[in-house]
Amino acid sequence: MVKPRIFSVSNQKGGVGKTTTTVNLATALAALEKKVLIIDLDPQGNATVSVGAKRRIGSLNSYSVLTGVDTLVDSVLETEIPYLYVLPASKELLGVDIELASAEQPQFYLKNALNEINMFDYIFIDCPPAVGLLTMNALVASDYVIIPVQCEYLALEGVADLMKTVQKVKKNFNPNLQLHGIVLTMFDGRSNLSKSIVSDVKEFFKDQVYDTLIPRNVRIPEAPSHGKPVMIYDIRSVGAKSYIRLAAEVLNREKELMAHG
Ligand SMILES: Nc1ncnc2c1ncn2[C@@H]1O[C@H](COP(=O)(O)OP(=O)(O)OP(=O)(O)O)[C@@H](O)[C@H]1O
Ligand SMILES: [Mg+2]
Repeated sequence: MVKPRIFSVSNQKGGVGKTTTTVNLATALAALEKKVLIIDLDPQGNATVSVGAKRRIGSLNSYSVLTGVDTLVDSVLETEIPYLYVLPASKELLGVDIELASAEQPQFYLKNALNEINMFDYIFIDCPPAVGLLTMNALVASDYVIIPVQCEYLALEGVADLMKTVQKVKKNFNPNLQLHGIVLTMFDGRSNLSKSIVSDVKEFFKDQVYDTLIPRNVRIPEAPSHGKPVMIYDIRSVGAKSYIRLAAEVLNREKELMAHG
């Protein structure tokens, strides 16, 4: 029985590639016959739809699992991709900040729900673009955090805050939490701005930045409308290839982190 390695994919800035990164890293690891679960913790439910599943209202979704009404085991869905499972989102997640505000230890709900789960090798949590209780729950339940940063103006806005949140969670709730890496997304090789952002981010975050750059690629936004990760939609696209390379890097870095941690 294995304890899963749990990754939060987080950045409070919207539209930076969190869901795309979650879905495609998860798919790449599933292709290596690792048993992988995506937890869609964003009320928008984009990760759910991107792997061909439907959002689920009422029960058997990430909201009902988070709040302890349903068990994870009962609620996960198989996807069309072998080894890849999803815990679908529900709009009810929108109410979590208010509903759990007066609960005791409201940051620990997801961790408790994942306790003793041993049927997955990896769990990837797709976080919403906000630092509320959903993101807190994800970070408290995780071993690692991956931060996608878009190669655009104001790329680093919010990343310093997120780093502070990660440090706070580490100190107060989850000493195991580690930054796994920063992934630069939507890189445009023809744009000087894109290039200067890459060098700024690398200068600031050094080797915490993955070597793999995810380029802008039209196949990536096309894929979700077919309910497929880009790797399945068009394996030969540069988008798919870069996420496969990123997955290899994530696996290597995990070995290094485990050796040093
Ligand atoms: N490398 C890429 N090339 C082109 N388009 C991309 C790329 N990565 C992501 N996109 C597109 O950019 C949009 C935002 O990406 P995504 O949904 O992954 O971001 P997000 O951070 O999860 O957004 P949100 O904060 O709303 O949850 C989507 O339409 C997605 O298809
Ligand atoms: Mg998203």
